[in-house]
Amino acid sequence: MNGKAPHIVQYQGSKRILAPQILQYMPKSCSRMIEPFSGTAAMTIAAAMDGRASSFMVNDLNAPLVKMLKEAVERPTRLLRDYEHVWSSQFEFPEGHVAHFYAVRDRFNAGETSSANMLYLLARCVKGSVRYGRGGNFNQSPDKRRHGTSPAKLAPNLLAVSKLLKGRTEFSSVDYREMFKIARKGDVVYMDPPYQGVSDVRDNRYCSGVSFAEFVESLYELEAKGVDYLISYDGQCGGRGYGEELPSDLKCRKYLLCAGLSTQATFLGRREVTYEALYVSKSIAPRVESNICEQCEFQEVASW
Ligand SMILES: C[S@@+](CC[C@H](N)C(=O)[O-])C[C@H]1O[C@@H](n2cnc3c(N)ncnc32)[C@H](O)[C@@H]1O
Repeated sequence: MNGKAPHIVQYQGSKRILAPQILQYMPKSCSRMIEPFSGTAAMTIAAAMDGRASSFMVNDLNAPLVKMLKEAVERPTRLLRDYEHVWSSQFEFPEGHVAHFYAVRDRFNAGETSSANMLYLLARCVKGSVRYGRGGNFNQSPDKRRHGTSPAKLAPNLLAVSKLLKGRTEFSSVDYREMFKIARKGDVVYMDPPYQGVSDVRDNRYCSGVSFAEFVESLYELEAKGVDYLISYDGQCGGRGYGEELPSDLKCRKYLLCAGLSTQATFLGRREVTYEALYVSKSIAPRVESNICEQCEFQEVASW
């Protein structure tokens, strides 16, 4: 991939930094790329920039997030104008910019889930980390030291994302299993499901738990249709693994990609490298092996 891919907001869990590594494990081209757990769609954007697919399907259970992505792609100028309005009003808010975040958050939780409000909450919240409480309310706090991405900084990114995806991307907000039903041979499905440790949220409007057993069962369906797939799943840090292994009879190849130094360990005074696992379906693995750059820090850890 030449150059950095554009992005809409800094988003915790985004695969933007790892995208160039992950792309090496994807087929050089496919007719359609599907991202069932898109979040901010970092991999779709990176794949589009690298010319890997003719069309894209972006899906996430978080409906306001997908609505915002759709508007960013289809009507970027309108979204920028609306965002500018929400963003700049923090400076005129009588109780200050932090109180302004809480006021927008309250309005969002009361049903004003406009794309501009969603974008502002993402741009201003701590670490760009989307969090919803049990009742489905957005409950992440604001980053008190920052005002969130300025419209001037956002504009070139938003326009670049729109240029890459407009006219060839479908958006939806359904459970990932619905996307598996749509997938057919010739598609590439890239999955970044919620991290197992935080994925058991039930009764929530915008995100659900992803049960490991159900996820694995659904993978067999993709496998039976001969669909190519890649999964960012578990990983390890400082020699400790986390997340459950996918069953060996899926015959995926598992690689550990170097995701850099762990910020949490660094904070505690330790130098620990984090690795993220990437599982590659058995249908892809032999075709992509020659793409993998030797200089890249990766380890193939399992091949059945
Ligand atoms: C780890 S994040 C994906 C981050 C993404 N790779 C990015 O670059 O921004 C996982 C996403 O899965 C979504 N999700 C959770 N349960 C889901 C389900 N049952 N079906 C579809 N999406 C789901 C969450 O809303 C969340 O955005």
